Parts: sequence; structure tokens; C-alpha cells
Amino acid sequence: MSRVVYVNGRYMPYAKAAVHVEDRGFQFADGIYEVIAILGGRLVDGAGHLQRLERNLDELRIAHPMSRAALLVVLNETIRRNRVQDGSIYLQITRGAARRDFPFPAGIRPSVVAITRAVDMERVAAKAAQGGAAILAPDQRWARCDIKTVALLPAALAKQAAREQGAFEAFLVDRDGFITEGSSSNAWIVTKDGVLVTRDLGLSILSGITRGAILALAEAEGLRVEERRFRPEEVFAAREAFTTSTTAFVMPITSLDGRPIGNAAPGLLATKLRALYAAYAESEARGARSGSGYRAPSGL
Ligand code: PDD
Repeated sequence: MSRVVYVNGRYMPYAKAAVHVEDRGFQFADGIYEVIAILGGRLVDGAGHLQRLERNLDELRIAHPMSRAALLVVLNETIRRNRVQDGSIYLQITRGAARRDFPFPAGIRPSVVAITRAVDMERVAAKAAQGGAAILAPDQRWARCDIKTVALLPAALAKQAAREQGAFEAFLVDRDGFITEGSSSNAWIVTKDGVLVTRDLGLSILSGITRGAILALAEAEGLRVEERRFRPEEVFAAREAFTTSTTAFVMPITSLDGRPIGNAAPGLLATKLRALYAAYAESEARGARSGSGYRAPSGL
């Protein structure tokens, strides 16, 4: 079956879909994106992702290309045309195309692209059952990591370093020596005392939609949770570590920079949270349960 991509109002064959050479996403990384999971042909936490998208557009003063309802129609139609059951959809909105100039060009119209990808969820689950390695890498990103921009070069470099060392994720370390998040995920630990810890929201991490859902699930389970900064030393001393993201759900981290975490196998709590999240995501997509939404960082 041929793949179809939504681009600026048209559904195009994948090989023919294109944006303008002077698109500001291409020249200035002047754009944002979302990756939304698809289960059973339906979006997981679509409302939360679109809330985050709208806030990010507003933060960057990019015009909303269409209403939230219209965006949902585009996303669902792109999924339908590609007959994706399980996978994800990538939605990118840039400020638009215009003659290259640093300030925002007058009258520019945003560019919108949506691309689906089918994913074998059993393979993802098999990877999670094994867990994965992570490395430490300096956080070289800009000062507004709460915004999901397409300026992903520092994240790509960190991920590449991880791959070259046989790891699947890089935990980014800020100038004060604290872990911010993974290069494309939020980072978590479970302390020796059984406390679930993840960095508090602010300018230095993305407020992950999966992170928000996991916090809600953990609270419903009565788990002890702390949203605060933590150092690599705390990861080395932790009982468990894991990441959360739209694409991997909950991914246990079994080693960091080659040093085992806990007993070097997926932890009990990470495994439990993964099962709880999988059940949540499946019922949220079906509309049987309402999503936990987007937690905007406050007081910025
Ligand atoms: N990345 N932090 C960063 C830097 C991310 O890029 C992501 C997601 C997350 C997790 O957010 P969420 O739970 O909303 O997916 C945290 C996506 C999956 C990507 O770039 O492919």
C-alpha cells in the first residue's frame, strides 16, 4: 500500500510530498512538532498533545494554522488513508515559507505536515522486557526545552553518541551537574526507598504527555512521587531507572555509562508502570477513559 502524507492542505504520495526550499523550518528550525501514538487506528492522548502544540505555537508566536477540531480531522484522515493500526503520527508546524530574513515575515502562513509510521508494538514490548542501556551526555540544547521545537541537533548528536556506545538513550546533564531528561524522553529513577523521582517542570525539560499520564497513574496507585532534580550519582545508587515517551511508553534502563542500575534488569516498578500505562493508553485511544492532558509548566 502506498503511503500518504498530509502537506499544506493536500494528501500527497509520500515520494511527491514536499515543502518550499525557503520554509523557515528548514532555514531557522522555526517550527514545532508533536509525535502522537496510534493504537487500534486511534490517537492516544490526542487532546493532551494538541494542548501542548497550541501552547508551543503561542510561545513562539506562530499563527494557529487551523482549529483543534480541524487538526484532529487532518490527523485522523492521514491515519485512515495509511490504514495504520498501531504506530505514531508526526505533526510538524513551521512559521511558513518566505524570502530568508531573520524577523518574522509579514503575512506568512504556517506550513503543516503530518506523516504516519506503523510500529510493531510486540517488538517495542520485547525491547522493554529486555531493558536498555543509557549514557550520560552534556545537555547542549537551548534555554527553552519546554517548547517542542524542530531544533533537534543537540538531541540527535547525543542520541548518536548513545548508539555508538551500544546504548539506546542519552541522559542529558545540565551545567549544574543534574540530569534534565533523555534526548527524546523523560528520565525517571526509583530510589532505594522506593520513591519515584523525575525532574520538575520548567524551562529545562519537555513536559512529556507520557510523563503526565505516568504521574497520574502513580498517584492513583498511592506511590510516593517527587518531582525534583537528581544527579547521575543518584541514578547509580537507584533501585531502578526508566524513561517515558510517546514512542517507547515506559522503557527500563538497566545500565548507565556501563554501570549496572539496580540488578541490571528491568525493575519491578517500571514493569508495573509500563503495564498500567499500556492499559491506560489502549482505553484512552478507544475513548473509554479520558486522557490526563498536558501539564503546562507554571510560573515561567
Ligand atoms: N520525543 N523529552 C524530550 C526531549 C522528547 O523529545 C520527548 C518526546 C519527551 C517525551 O514526551 P512525550 O511523552 O510527550 O512523548 C521528553 C518524541 C517521542 C520524539 O521526538 O520522537
